[in-house]
Amino acid sequence: MHVLSVSSLKGGVGKTTVTLGLASAAFAKGLRTLVVDLDPQSDVSTGMDIDIAGHLNVADVLASPKEKIVRSAIAPSGWTKGRPGTVDVLIGSPSSINFDGPHPSIKDIWKLEEALAHVESDYDIVLIDCPPSLNALTRTAWAASDRVAVVTEPGLFSVAAADRALRAIEEIRRGLSPRLQPLGIVVNRARVQSLEHQFRIKELRDMFGPLVLSPHLPERTSLQQAQGAAKPLHMWPGDNAQEMSRNFDQLLLRVMRAARMEDPQPAATAAQ
Ligand SMILES: Nc1ncnc2c1ncn2[C@@H]1O[C@H](COP(=O)(O)OP(=O)(O)O)[C@@H](O)[C@H]1O
Ligand SMILES: [Mg+2]
Repeated sequence: MHVLSVSSLKGGVGKTTVTLGLASAAFAKGLRTLVVDLDPQSDVSTGMDIDIAGHLNVADVLASPKEKIVRSAIAPSGWTKGRPGTVDVLIGSPSSINFDGPHPSIKDIWKLEEALAHVESDYDIVLIDCPPSLNALTRTAWAASDRVAVVTEPGLFSVAAADRALRAIEEIRRGLSPRLQPLGIVVNRARVQSLEHQFRIKELRDMFGPLVLSPHLPERTSLQQAQGAAKPLHMWPGDNAQEMSRNFDQLLLRVMRAARMEDPQPAATAAQ
């Protein structure tokens, strides 16, 4: 089971969009996928169309990561109404904010890792949608992760923000979890015609080299449409959605390569 955190120090840059896009790609590929909604805003739970009735949520899990509680906080995504597969959500909650203090204890930091250990054999890949800070929840996510994807827009402060995130990852790797590594930087909302964006992307490349992942994600309305309808991007009609789906397929391949994961349908990626 490979665990990837999707993080950034800022809100609104595309963490949830990247989490949903990768989840959609993993679902299309037939990977058994769990999405953990660690952001108190719970957008990823909404985007994956879950019915929370009768379920616990991530705040209950962080309070007590016992197997029974973990399983009760996991619900199947409504995406599976459209096609079969395993894509589940560890349900988000506004109450998770209570676990996002600035000075978590070591015990608190390992809670999610402890929780995920109970479902280790049920999933191939776990994607964690993180809140936009470096407080306890993000550190809890990273302690449970193999890799972190840092999302950024090609803007004025993107180099500084990405640099801070990478340093923080390194700090956690050294101090707490040697298995943690950056997957790289996902550049979101890139406009190829914008000279400013070209300049900012070059700046990121000069600073971080191959850690800047490709493809960059363009700005596309299909993303917002699929999210608004709580449908997977790969099942959204139109060329625009198809193009974005291919981008997420490529990012997912990068994740799988980092995880040394076998591809269940090597040649079929482009045919979904
Ligand atoms: N590449 C993109 N193209 C179009 N809209 C986007 C793109 N990335 C993000 N958005 C939109 O921008 C808003 C913020 O993105 P979101 O993924 O929720 O950010 P975060 O989770 O980092 O706060 C959402 O409404 C989302 O649909
Ligand atoms: Mg979000």
